Amino acid sequence: MGVVELIGVVVLLGVLCAESKYMVYNTSAGIDGGKINVHLVPHTHDDVGWLKTVDQYYVGSNNSIQGACVQNVLDSLLPALLADKNRKFIYVEQAFFQRWWRDQSELTQSIVKKVVSSGQLEFINGGMCMHDEAVPHYIDMIDQTTLGHRFLKEEFGVTPRIGWQIDPFGHSAVQAYLLGAEVGFDSFFFGRIDYQDRIKRKKERSLEVIWRGSKSLGSSAQIFAGAFPENYEPPSGFYFEVNADSPVVQDNVDLFDYNVQDRVNDFVAAAIAQANITRTNHIMWTMGTDFKYQYAHTWFRNMDKLIHYVNKDGRVNALYSTPSIYTDAKYATSKSWPLKVDDYFPYADRANAYWTGYYTSRPALKFYVRIMSGYYLAARQLEFFKGRRNSRPNTDALADALAIAQHHDAVTGTEKQHVANDYAKRLSIGYTEAEKVVASSLACLTDSKSSIGCGDSTTNFQQCPLLNITYCPASETDLSHGKNLIVVIYNSLGWKREDVVRFPPFIFPQLLVLDIEVVMGVMVRKKLIKI
Ligand SMILES: *[C@@H]1O[C@H](CO)[C@@H](O)[C@H](O)[C@H]1NC(C)=O
Ligand SMILES: *[C@@H]1O[C@H](CO)[C@@H](O)[C@H](O)[C@H]1NC(C)=O
Ligand SMILES: *[C@@H]1O[C@H](CO)[C@@H](O)[C@H](O)[C@H]1NC(C)=O
Ligand SMILES: *[C@@H]1O[C@H](CO)[C@@H](O)[C@H](O)[C@H]1NC(C)=O
Ligand SMILES: [Zn+2]
Repeated sequence: MGVVELIGVVVLLGVLCAESKYMVYNTSAGIDGGKINVHLVPHTHDDVGWLKTVDQYYVGSNNSIQGACVQNVLDSLLPALLADKNRKFIYVEQAFFQRWWRDQSELTQSIVKKVVSSGQLEFINGGMCMHDEAVPHYIDMIDQTTLGHRFLKEEFGVTPRIGWQIDPFGHSAVQAYLLGAEVGFDSFFFGRIDYQDRIKRKKERSLEVIWRGSKSLGSSAQIFAGAFPENYEPPSGFYFEVNADSPVVQDNVDLFDYNVQDRVNDFVAAAIAQANITRTNHIMWTMGTDFKYQYAHTWFRNMDKLIHYVNKDGRVNALYSTPSIYTDAKYATSKSWPLKVDDYFPYADRANAYWTGYYTSRPALKFYVRIMSGYYLAARQLEFFKGRRNSRPNTDALADALAIAQHHDAVTGTEKQHVANDYAKRLSIGYTEAEKVVASSLACLTDSKSSIGCGDSTTNFQQCPLLNITYCPASETDLSHGKNLIVVIYNSLGWKREDVVRFPPFIFPQLLVLDIEVVMGVMVRKKLIKI
């Protein structure tokens, strides 16, 4: 009985093998000067918190809210890239990448370093998150970008070349000159601009511009900036996530539903339509969207086939690309571009749909982020004065929490309540640790003859974050028995300021006010005022 069945299976396999054979796809295409070049840019857009928290997105929990797991994306990406050296991918959000990196073996890390240095995997934008451009303070935008870039420089020796703000809800001139031109990016791409502006720009072929964000800096701070024709997704019909409903490329003649010519025709038509609204013969297809590539093979399998058959057809040229390759191709054409000088605000994605409410929603979170940002600036300076050591407590947790909070679904207020709570919780944890750094640094600085690297002082400084409700236990000390209360007010700004400082009343026999300036970590006592 068993033997008979086995023979049946062997025969069946024999029949199938006789027809189907292993197919090598030619994915090696580069740029073809004489054709429309379709730059396929495989990417994923991973929100650093939105409907789920950043950690839930990373590990893939709470999938009933949204089926999204960034760990799957990065895990499946590596074998997909190794399977064909022509395949490329860009990765953006360092908050996720760092979580994943820390989970990898040394072997995996060394393989990742190889695909990064070969250019198969390119880091784009490179901040911890893709920050919003309307709500964050520009210092926070710089800080969160720096934090991500520093990691990439240290681990991979690379600096991202391209700005990639594909989802934020409008774009600021500050972003253009400060985080575009001044950071040294070669170009800057985004998805969301006003729907009427987009229609006009398509007609005028002015989606891609030279953007001069600063009136005073003018052409010394300009950047090549491109808005996408629709959004940051593929043209319709070219979604290849494992559960997507776009027709997959079926090129096996032995199976039903062979569709190569149809798919090639769809591809060519979509390419010609986009070329019709774009200057030069280079167009970009953003192959991916939110939390895609959880099973990266489905995308690459279909793109391999498209590149192979489209190029065989020959009407247009399809290639694996990145925004860097695309930018270089645009520069190489030495065409001139329309100029853009102001910002892309406010943003409406259709009639009567202005995304301006988010400028003020979740005011408590916005307030908390801003207060923490100011505190972080002071804490970081004090940490430096004391001498930064690679030990706890330090200001890293606060830096990290603040970075994540600049995300375009964080400080903007567009996230779910439990996610907003998560950002606040991280800030609170970061603050609690930074408070210890501030206390010991102040103690150290106010010790006489202090300088960088001073030892641990015994003065215990307490901070009063609840002065808004006149609550400060430290100032309620009974001073009638010859005890001293030292109040330190630290100005983290680089200039003098005049402020009324209020704290709960305490009984004091006399008050000494010292004006102290810290110059290069050395304290200079300036004047003594006796009251
Ligand atoms: C693969 O495609 C490229 C460009 O599309 C072409 O130059 C090359 O000759 C092709 N290679 C093979 C082996 O067909
Ligand atoms: C899943 O999300 C809900 C909010 O809808 C939250 O209350 C819950 O704690 C989350 N579950 C986990 C395991 O984090
Ligand atoms: C190209 O653009 C013109 C003008 O907007 C339009 O009339 C024409 O239909 C477009 N062609 C294609 C192939 O999309
Ligand atoms: C005082 O500030 C704290 C922390 O910022 C806040 O939680 C609290 O609601 C504030 N109290 C009042 C009365 O505004
Ligand atoms: Zn997003």
